[in-house]
Amino acid sequence: MNYNKVTPNIISQLESIAGKENVYLDEEHLKQYSHDETEDLKFYPEVIVKPRTSKEISELLILANRENIPVTPRGAGTGLSGGALPVFGGIIIAMERFNSILSIDERNLQATVEPGVINQVFQEAVIAKGLFYPPDPASKGSCFLGGNLAENAGGPKAVKYGVTKDYVLNLEVVLPTGEIIMTGANVLKNATGYNLTQLIVGSEGTLGIITKIVFRLLPYPSQTLLMLVPFASAAKACEAVSAVFVAGITPSAMEFMERDAIDWVLKFVEVNIEIKDTIQAHLLIEVDGNDADVLMKDCEKISEVMYRFGCDEILLAETAAQKENLWKMRRRVAEAVRSHAVYKEEDTVVPRAELAKLLTGIKEIGKKYGFRSVCYGHAGDGNLHVNIIKEQLSDEEWNTKLPLGIREIFELCVSLGGTISGEHGIGWVQKGYMDIPFSEKEISLQKGIKSLFDPNHILNPGKIFV
Ligand code: MLT
Ligand code: ZN
Repeated sequence: MNYNKVTPNIISQLESIAGKENVYLDEEHLKQYSHDETEDLKFYPEVIVKPRTSKEISELLILANRENIPVTPRGAGTGLSGGALPVFGGIIIAMERFNSILSIDERNLQATVEPGVINQVFQEAVIAKGLFYPPDPASKGSCFLGGNLAENAGGPKAVKYGVTKDYVLNLEVVLPTGEIIMTGANVLKNATGYNLTQLIVGSEGTLGIITKIVFRLLPYPSQTLLMLVPFASAAKACEAVSAVFVAGITPSAMEFMERDAIDWVLKFVEVNIEIKDTIQAHLLIEVDGNDADVLMKDCEKISEVMYRFGCDEILLAETAAQKENLWKMRRRVAEAVRSHAVYKEEDTVVPRAELAKLLTGIKEIGKKYGFRSVCYGHAGDGNLHVNIIKEQLSDEEWNTKLPLGIREIFELCVSLGGTISGEHGIGWVQKGYMDIPFSEKEISLQKGIKSLFDPNHILNPGKIFV
């Protein structure tokens, strides 16, 4: 794609739209906005603009269209597929000034927020009113809700409560051509025309810029129980996962960590835990609700299932601090791997009963191509994060052989009824694999939608499709 450069004349137009103080050209900012959390990728924008209103964004996009300048919308930069990377340079529209919770409607269990609100800030604001917003990605302490929508983020609670899309009722969106639209209505049921709301969710900032979000909320479940279940066989741990649901229980989290994941994270965070040498994997299982007796009975039933699959001694977290520690251990696996290794992270997903086949297959593919992988993730969703470690692989092997191994992993996912990303998105790094889950026709339908929204392809170009 051929785009024009940002000229001094365009800069002065950006300044008159958003205010001089909200336009950044200095090296430090350009560097800061050149990367997200996706591996070590870096693409420098030419300029960063931090608008405050939908109208300003509309004017910015009209200008970008007129001048043929690429625009990349950006939340907190915590993405894992390069969705916020300005791969063609141009303008970054940074959404951090859209940071207000506009209203929490306790009568309707709804909230209207701006996209630059941090996930955890929002969760805490609704908890203060006895309400619950479940989607809780690992980066919840820093990621923005707008980014969560763009990537349809999940997290541990998705297994019981669903992912971001399941909480979005209505959106204000600025289209790439500058019009400001509402996608739906503030209702729980809506059978009115095409579902534009859900089309925008997960579209990775390629179809429009979200400027307002209406969420539905739930009552807050007051109690949780958390158990850590060790297994000598990682495949057995995976098999036990679907058996819990078959036994009629839906945990509020069901996470998997193989031995390597725990060993890495324990080098990184201080958690007081003894793990026998024989243990190869753990399941971290949470149940939630409002009745402690019911939760204890659920845990007993879950334990029966776990022992049936040959688990070792189960640890039931006794105190809030113990629960916090176990969650810290799980949530910081990715960060621990990232800080210790050159790695590539895949976000595989299959129907949960196929999880053991997926894990075994990934290890076989690793042997074939000579790479080690550290696997962990949201087992209850069949969503396994696979961190491939470079270690002894040469640059040549890493650059040429690894993509073949990844292709095989993705082909395995699809053959098991799954797909190539559960919650991290396609963005920049996975687009070369879109031919695995989709036929040419299926891809061309999606590209047609992109062209309809963004005829000049100025908004987040280079993402999702090759
Ligand atoms: C997680 O579940 O820990 C994240 O989705 C993975 C990551 O942050 O890389
Ligand atoms: Zn995850």
